[in-house]
Amino acid sequence: MQTTDRRVIVALDYPATAPALELLERIDPGQCRVKIGKEMFTRAGPAFVEAVAARGFEVFLDLKYHDIPNTVAAACAAAADLGVWMVNVHASGGRRMLETAAARLAQHDRRPLLIAVTILTSLGADDLGEIGYSGSPADNVRRLAALAEDSGLDGVVCSPLEVGLLRAERGSAFRLVTPGVRPAGAASDDQKRVMTPGDAIRAGADYLVVGRPVTASTDPPASLAAINRDVAAALPAA
Ligand code: C5P
Repeated sequence: MQTTDRRVIVALDYPATAPALELLERIDPGQCRVKIGKEMFTRAGPAFVEAVAARGFEVFLDLKYHDIPNTVAAACAAAADLGVWMVNVHASGGRRMLETAAARLAQHDRRPLLIAVTILTSLGADDLGEIGYSGSPADNVRRLAALAEDSGLDGVVCSPLEVGLLRAERGSAFRLVTPGVRPAGAASDDQKRVMTPGDAIRAGADYLVVGRPVTASTDPPASLAAINRDVAAALPAA
């Protein structure tokens, strides 16, 4: 991906809609996209997604579907009908689930990007062993990313430290969406493995999911602009 266009996805992690909509009043949809996750969606539902879209923001609906193929495909179609820009599923739902979801979305004129979650970054080697996965977390990430691509998905969510390897293995068209991004000098909060926006882009990330560095900032537009400057400086000249 060469475009400098809106690589930052601001995570709208709020317990209520009012502060999220206040943030959206202050930032420019030309400068970022936004992510709506399980908490906000469970509280505020599709109406909130529509309210965000009505303000001009493209939405990554981060609901990480994982169910039988027909159910996941139907949920993806419902997300596409809502007009979201990106939606995600768990790669561990298996090839048939992934292929069925991709095929269902292909029927939409303006389909959302379909992204897989590989291994949750909260799972360590012991946790994986307990649920029957052999190999290291990194081995499983690589295997599931390959399965996602082979099943027709557009990319995966991955930690900044996995970006370089996945970019090398999966080629330039496969989208890599990366949380765990922190501007130089910012608090890492509860993120253990962080990279700066520029470093994540240089490693090969396409999109950066950024929450608290923007949402908890005293000046969100200025924080977002600084992140975008770091991203722009890391992109190859057009
Ligand atoms: O505030 P912060 O920048 O840490 O927010 C990161 C966002 O990315 C949150 O919505 C979080 O749930 C999400 N995320 C993550 N790590 C993952 C997957 C998703 O931080 N492995």
